[in-house]
Amino acid sequence: MSAHPSPATTLLSALPQTSSGGTPIVRQPCAEICGPLAVLGTDVQVPLASGEKVGYAALDYAASSPALQRVWDDVAAYAPYYGSVHRGAGYLSQLSTDLFEQSRRTVGEFLDLREGDQVVFTRATTDSLNLLAAAVPAGTRVFAFETEHHASLLPWAHAGLDVTYLRAPRSRAEAVAALDAALAEAPEGPKLLCVTGASNVTGELWPVAELTGTAHRHGARVVLDAAQLAPHHRVSVRELDVDWIAFSGHKIYAPFGAGVLAGRADWLDEAEPYLAGGGATRTVAREADGSVAVQWHTGPARHEAGSPNVIGAYAIASACRALTEAGFDALEARERQLVARLTAGLAGIPQVKVLNLFGADSARVGVLSFVVRGWNSSHFSAALSAEYGIGVRDGLFCAHPLVRTLLGDEDVAPSECGAPEPSLPGERSLNAIRVSFGAGTPDEHVDRFLTAVRELVTDGAAWNYRNEGGRCVADSRREG
Ligand SMILES: Cc1ncc(COP(=O)(O)O)c(C=O)c1O
Repeated sequence: MSAHPSPATTLLSALPQTSSGGTPIVRQPCAEICGPLAVLGTDVQVPLASGEKVGYAALDYAASSPALQRVWDDVAAYAPYYGSVHRGAGYLSQLSTDLFEQSRRTVGEFLDLREGDQVVFTRATTDSLNLLAAAVPAGTRVFAFETEHHASLLPWAHAGLDVTYLRAPRSRAEAVAALDAALAEAPEGPKLLCVTGASNVTGELWPVAELTGTAHRHGARVVLDAAQLAPHHRVSVRELDVDWIAFSGHKIYAPFGAGVLAGRADWLDEAEPYLAGGGATRTVAREADGSVAVQWHTGPARHEAGSPNVIGAYAIASACRALTEAGFDALEARERQLVARLTAGLAGIPQVKVLNLFGADSARVGVLSFVVRGWNSSHFSAALSAEYGIGVRDGLFCAHPLVRTLLGDEDVAPSECGAPEPSLPGERSLNAIRVSFGAGTPDEHVDRFLTAVRELVTDGAAWNYRNEGGRCVADSRREG
């Protein structure tokens, strides 16, 4: 390595403006003029049922946000230099290893980690939380509100841990009181609270600092599911004092198949490796008795067996840099404007019921779910797409218990087509519509959405729809 200039200093400081070897790295012109939070896809035209084309209104950021132009450019600039990580003697392998480790540090800074905390790269939030579930000490009791996304609700019991599911609270104060009471009754032993920062259904912000304070007073640790929080708000692990945090690259404008689990090292270092394989091992030796003895690494490598996803990690680091450069104050202010525009517009449509756990005025990120009286949500969402070029999501959003609670005795109209989420025996099948947005969302998308909702509610759909393999597709123009 000493024969070459250090890849860390040449590449990391030079990318993406110049190459280390003289090959010019071409950046898309947009990166220079559009600012750090310009997103791809803003000029994509999609066909309507009528055959006309319109600009796509992407209002499903909560599922997967579009890629930042900056992220795309950074990945493209790095791509010619791509090489193996932690396992090659060649220059590009060293360079890629440096880039991967630098990405880890960038994510750590973005999350404002404490001394000694570590960043493990995973596939996404689901993977991060399953990793933690596999790593917590045996006998740990986990506490989770039934309102969690399935990724935060299900890994714990799946890993054989005892779980206390807390009922859906109807205010932030009730959430804190419910946790306090449950922890006060909990038996001695290790405890963990898993809580979301922002709901993927209602977008409402959860009182993370208060819940963490309560958990810590009772000796419980906390993992924050920041899948919907990190793309919208600055998150400081140090200030919130959570023990771990998990989020996904594809929801934070970096869709290259990576995610993050970050936080305290002790439980992770003491646990069995999440995956057994190369990269997680310090030594592997045949023993005289024919067995194989393994010494595992400590630190992130312990849980990152296999060839790491360096492009995914670099993409997340690029998004972290872009968000930091843009500043969350501006992003949050812009989202508050759009949320206000959206909620005011929907409030003027009596058939629309917005779903809230903590009340209509509760603070939320750019995520909101609703039902329309007289409509099935699959049918309504299909009409938004086929007749207006608007992409939203319908269903129960991988948070079935929460949506069932929120819909309560709501009457869901039978579907002209499409399949509402299947119900359990004895339960009605239900579904809702979710609209979500973030960086790069123009006013026009929200305005077009509100116009579409008004028109559909007033005039009905202009097309008949049929069920095609569970999907609702426009079939023929309605008469009259
Ligand atoms: C709050 C929340 N947690 C966890 C997840 C799971 O994320 P992923 O599918 O990226 O693993 C999601 C995905 O929608 C989510 O919204």
